[in-house]
Amino acid sequence: MTIRSVIQGVGSYLPAKNVTNAELAKKVDTSDEWIVDRSGIRERHVAAEGEKTSDLAIAAVTKALAAAGRDGKDIDLFIVATTTPDHTFPATAARVQAALGRPGVPSFDVQAVCSGFVYGLAVADNFIKAGQVKSAVVVGAEAMTRLLDWNDRTTCVLFGDGAGAVVLGAETGTGVTTDRGILSTHLHSDGNYYDMLYCDGGPSTTQTSGYIRMKGKEVFRHAVVNLAEAVQEALTANKISIDAVDWLVPHQANKRILDGTAHKLGLDPAKVIVTVDRHANTSAASIPLALAAGVADGRIKPGNLVLMEAMGGGFTWGSVLVRM
Ligand code: ACO
Repeated sequence: MTIRSVIQGVGSYLPAKNVTNAELAKKVDTSDEWIVDRSGIRERHVAAEGEKTSDLAIAAVTKALAAAGRDGKDIDLFIVATTTPDHTFPATAARVQAALGRPGVPSFDVQAVCSGFVYGLAVADNFIKAGQVKSAVVVGAEAMTRLLDWNDRTTCVLFGDGAGAVVLGAETGTGVTTDRGILSTHLHSDGNYYDMLYCDGGPSTTQTSGYIRMKGKEVFRHAVVNLAEAVQEALTANKISIDAVDWLVPHQANKRILDGTAHKLGLDPAKVIVTVDRHANTSAASIPLALAAGVADGRIKPGNLVLMEAMGGGFTWGSVLVRM
């Protein structure tokens, strides 16, 4: 008998305001054609004035709990993956727990930038497998537009705001890949690439939150290689071929990265859930946003094998293989 972390419900939230490329081109020297051609992005959602990352997270978790048919008061652990917390401290997870959970259960943030949701799932899965908790909420929530330098057209067109969440529950499996739940998690980082993609502020440096800085071409090159390797690592660990995967749910940074990774893996592009066109790069929120979209439109069904993978600042990268 094996303890498995089963995804019992998925939910997502995008702020009401959406900004198309054409609207962006009115204030930045860019064009719809350039943005679509280089990134596949068509629009992004932007949090309203006063709308905080915790508000986005709470909206997504509320939907995930409803989908799972569970009350937040019964959840044993709250993890928020975010790069854009409400405040430097406390953790944004404290706000989510206060709004929806019961006092006394652990809550904390995970910071692994665009890999944050994968990191958060891995942490929650290990808590569940260790028997320390029986349920967990993992939410990726970001207000990335708050970190944009509107004078830097190479970054400001690429990011958006949003949140996505899953409810995990401990169930028993038999230890084989036909079990429902998380089958494997793999995490990596290499801090030698710190300067490739970073925010140029912080409490211990500038005392400001700073702006996103990125060496786009370098990031692109590493992303395709690292993500393809992360997928291969998960397949090897589970002794399955790429054909066994029903859906690849990648971090939604750039359509060209998704296409490049699928090509490198020999994966049918029709098996890749793509939502980056609708919400741009929402960092830790992008995988659960894509997962929720795939579940909502009926493509991702119970029993399907779903492989999630991400790469982000650090660099950090990793994968989660889950049977829905
Ligand atoms: N609009 C119009 N023109 C632009 C824009 C813009 N928004 N931004 C840059 N350009 C221009 C440049 O000035 C340059 O002009 P020049 O040739 O006259 O000098 C030209 O477009 C090409 O610029 P490059 O930087 O070479 O463009 P590239 O093809 O590399 O595309 C991009 C840039 C989209 C950032 C690409 O490098 C990329 O996708 N990198 C990956 C970044 C990413 O996805 N990061 C997300 C975080 S990491 C992650 O999540 C995995």
